Amino acid sequence: MKLAMIGTGYVGLTTGTCFAEVGHKVVCVDNNEEKVKALRQGKMPIYEPDLEEMIVSNVSAGRLEFTTDLAAAVRECEVIFIAVPTPPHDDGSVDLSYIEGVSREIADALTPELGYRVVVDKSTVPVSTGTKVYQVIERYSHQGVDVEVVSNPEFLREGSAVNDLMNPDRIVIGSDSQRAMDLMKRVYQPFNAPIVEVDLASAELIKHAANSFLALKISYINAVSAVCEKAGADVELVAKGIGMDKRISRHFLNAGLGYGGSCFPKDVKGFINVAEQLGSPMEILKEVERVNAAQLERFLGRIRKKLWVLRNKKIAVWGIAFKQNTDDVRESVAVKLIKRLCEEGAEVVAYDPKAAETGAQALAGYNVTICQDMYECVQDAEVLVVATEWKQFATANLLKVRERMRLPILFDGRNIIHGENAVHVGLEYHSIGRKTLYPQS
Ligand code: UGA
Repeated sequence: MKLAMIGTGYVGLTTGTCFAEVGHKVVCVDNNEEKVKALRQGKMPIYEPDLEEMIVSNVSAGRLEFTTDLAAAVRECEVIFIAVPTPPHDDGSVDLSYIEGVSREIADALTPELGYRVVVDKSTVPVSTGTKVYQVIERYSHQGVDVEVVSNPEFLREGSAVNDLMNPDRIVIGSDSQRAMDLMKRVYQPFNAPIVEVDLASAELIKHAANSFLALKISYINAVSAVCEKAGADVELVAKGIGMDKRISRHFLNAGLGYGGSCFPKDVKGFINVAEQLGSPMEILKEVERVNAAQLERFLGRIRKKLWVLRNKKIAVWGIAFKQNTDDVRESVAVKLIKRLCEEGAEVVAYDPKAAETGAQALAGYNVTICQDMYECVQDAEVLVVATEWKQFATANLLKVRERMRLPILFDGRNIIHGENAVHVGLEYHSIGRKTLYPQS
């Protein structure tokens, strides 16, 4: 099938590429000429495992192309996906101006002669957006165009996007028309995954409700971690014990510094706002946000308590990205932590395997040095903080770390380092929701 993907951000680029991988012919559209030019030359705007190879092979196979010409893509393709940003406004409501703008451009390009077209919303949007997109297209297009609007939310995670797309748990298609549903089922036929067929509004709600529930799960275990710290219990054992109950599951029960990224903070806020607008507030999600913010504050308080004064202290931070396997620093808790340490006068040296460049931009104006080597980063440091769950931090040579540090203090904000190994080499090991371990003197 011929598919158009409007927007080559995280979702658009990876989804478009995976559609090409399963045999569709995909035209990816973006209004950023530089980006389109770079993509044509095989230059990636983001780091995502396996994506680059897949783009290169599908471009050379003639199944994937990049263009700025939206109208041509609409003329050529029967199914048109919208995957443009839906950033939050200051009040938490969702900015739908990009969606509206693209809808109008699609409307301009549609003519009755083209035949049937399905416009699919892939971006995360508040419930009832699909209906509004349809109204906009109807209002601005020629009389007699044959078009329907579908919601098809995306559940990929950054860092494992290609795998998530190729092996999804489920595919959600929301439509109030059987004709559009049948066409969408053909799009997804090559993927071996269950399809959840629902109405337009339910599909839109599934996305907000899913992300908010996952954020709630993280805040729940983080709130439990605070109790564990007071009670002398171990949050990892509690997570294991409750996670083995299939109704609960162990996934997304990793206690840490809290959730970040371009999705959870925005979508929890967006859902709170939508629910309020509809007159059915989701107070529970306000608590999710409160716990998330408190998690970082409590951690900072513990570092402060250990060092007494942060001014002029050399603090090494491992991790800048909002999670492992990505260079994305949007709403990264690690970035927030670094900024707070700098504001309190600490001299911060940070390292991240992929987010050095994006991190430097996000931290411009702060007293932070970004290191190219994780061991150089800890040289003469008084504390090492692990802020992102990169695998290479979990398997670090802790003896090398201990030998380079000025004081042997390790704060593991992601519970990924083996505490016994840390104390074995002489490091004091502070983590989330567990007792502090001290080396034997
Ligand atoms: C999230 C969802 O997991 C995807 O299903 C969804 O498609 C995506 O948002 C989106 O709406 O586009 P993503 O933001 O890429 O994906 O990353 P996650 O792996 O969900 O992690 C989000 C944050 O939660 C990270 O900061 C991570 O460190 C944190 N986290 C995750 C925890 O603190 N504990 C956990 O147990 C899991």
